[in-house]
Amino acid sequence: METTLVLIKPGGVNRNLIGEITRRVEARGLKVVGLKLINAPRETVEEHYAEHRERPFFNDVVTYLTSGPIVAMAVQGTNAVKAIRAMMGATNPLDATPGTVRGDFALTIDDNLTHSSSDPDAAARELGLWFPEGTVA
Ligand code: CMP
Repeated sequence: METTLVLIKPGGVNRNLIGEITRRVEARGLKVVGLKLINAPRETVEEHYAEHRERPFFNDVVTYLTSGPIVAMAVQGTNAVKAIRAMMGATNPLDATPGTVRGDFALTIDDNLTHSSSDPDAAARELGLWFPEGTVA
């Protein structure tokens, strides 16, 4: 059993995709064990993307994530990390397969709708950052 983090970015919230994305997660058989709609503090987003600090897109992605409300969701299930990554699709929506969230709803890497943890270690770190109070399971 694994728990992973999904962020629905401001573009996804703006486009009223909270329900659609959450529906897909639940329909797959995964369990939502943490859920909040927040205006993310810049420091939290900077910490979240710390591995990208030296990348040219770092400032833009941090500014984007703080441009409006986001959803932070903790998702639990067998192989949840890999299952969620596959459901969201490739980081660049142009490479994302139809049937994935990005393949169905996104066109550009700057507005790729969601973030999901890349591996179990990243999931543990990111869940601690976004759910310091813990999750319900
Ligand atoms: P995410 O999975 O949230 O991780 C880092 C984010 O930076 C990524 O999704 C994209 O939204 C954004 N980004 C912008 N440009 C790039 C790029 N060239 N490579 C990777 N991520 C990028």
